[in-house]
Amino acid sequence: MRVAVIGAGVIGLSTALCIHDRYHSTDQPLEIEVYADKFTPHTTSDGAAGLWQPYLYDKGNTQETLWNKETFDYLFQHINSPEAKEMGLFLLSGYNIFTQPVPDPSWKDIVLGFRILSQKELELFPGYSYGWFNTALMLEGKSYLPWLTNRLQLQRVKFFHRKIESFQELTAQGVDVIINCTGVRAGELQPDPELRPGRGQIIKVEAPWVKHFIITHHIASGIYKTPYIIPGSNAVTLGGIFQLGNWSEQNSPQDHQKVWRGCCHLMPSLQKAKIVDEWCGSRPVRPKVRLEHEVVQHGTLQSEVIHNYGHGGFGLTIHWGCAMEAARLFGKILEGRKSARPPRANL
Ligand code: FAD
Ligand code: BEZ
Repeated sequence: MRVAVIGAGVIGLSTALCIHDRYHSTDQPLEIEVYADKFTPHTTSDGAAGLWQPYLYDKGNTQETLWNKETFDYLFQHINSPEAKEMGLFLLSGYNIFTQPVPDPSWKDIVLGFRILSQKELELFPGYSYGWFNTALMLEGKSYLPWLTNRLQLQRVKFFHRKIESFQELTAQGVDVIINCTGVRAGELQPDPELRPGRGQIIKVEAPWVKHFIITHHIASGIYKTPYIIPGSNAVTLGGIFQLGNWSEQNSPQDHQKVWRGCCHLMPSLQKAKIVDEWCGSRPVRPKVRLEHEVVQHGTLQSEVIHNYGHGGFGLTIHWGCAMEAARLFGKILEGRKSARPPRANL
């Protein structure tokens, strides 16, 4: 059985690993191939800060909340393992702050020690009158993607640096099942009016005195103005840009100013921090993640496709739950094939 995963971001690599771990055996060998035109460290998943938090998300989708929880719990099991450092995984605590009271988030019982901020804590954040504190996880793509890649290579999964133009191309080549993990560019393979880029731009600074994340939330005249500060293992990520529909891949000086001013206003000591990097990328924004099996017909040829894309600003946060669901869908295709096979003749 030949399986082709398109995409080598966190979604493609974790889905390939999950399918391999669950279904590859000597009785039932799987040939898994990963096709991508960008690999680590050049994917959106590498650029992401890596905080486990369903960012700009809470739309009441209980299925996604469950996948977020499965991911948190899976990562949490690894937190004290010797692998954690290589995975880019560690605990991080911090603040979400607001200009008015808000309902608790869907994930309050998933993270550790979720609570409402005290008045004394709010004094740290002039202009904000409400907030939460909790401990979450960091999963840094720049470590996690190489870790996943290494695990896949040890299992002899093959990697191809190539742009895929159509599902048909892979089916015609003899691939039995395609796993579509193409992120924000999924529309190039099959039009999807629900998928849009949510462009972000971040600045990385050296500021080792920053030990907590701070995520601000406020909507001014319909535009998100939400600076955030997230310390990582090597640098601190400053961000807060979210531009729906903007496909630009260039860093913008205006966005740089917005992020820099917003974050320095929030934490004035950042004015002393050295800028070490700047990056922009697009979140694959969709009303909900597309995670389903589809048979795509091209003339007489048909492709079995499992779609797994549209993880918005929470791909690292949700990836493992989605990988397990994609693997379940793959298992159903396998079962269907086994039961469709004619019974062996008695010899
Ligand atoms: P990608 O990482 O974009 O990977 C897509 C893959 O598909 C690439 O390998 C690409 O080459 C390949 N591909 C696409 N089309 C083709 C084709 N036709 N042929 C071959 N290959 C193809 N999420 C969090 O959980 N926590 C965070 O802290 C966080 N911070 C973020 C900060 C910013 C500024 C941004 C922009 C996003 C952030 N996110 C965060 C969101 C997260 O980055 C995304 O949800 C996640 O990276 C999506 O992963 P993916 O694997 O679907 O896509
Ligand atoms: C982001 O998409 O910018 C983001 C995601 C999770 C936490 C913080 C920021």
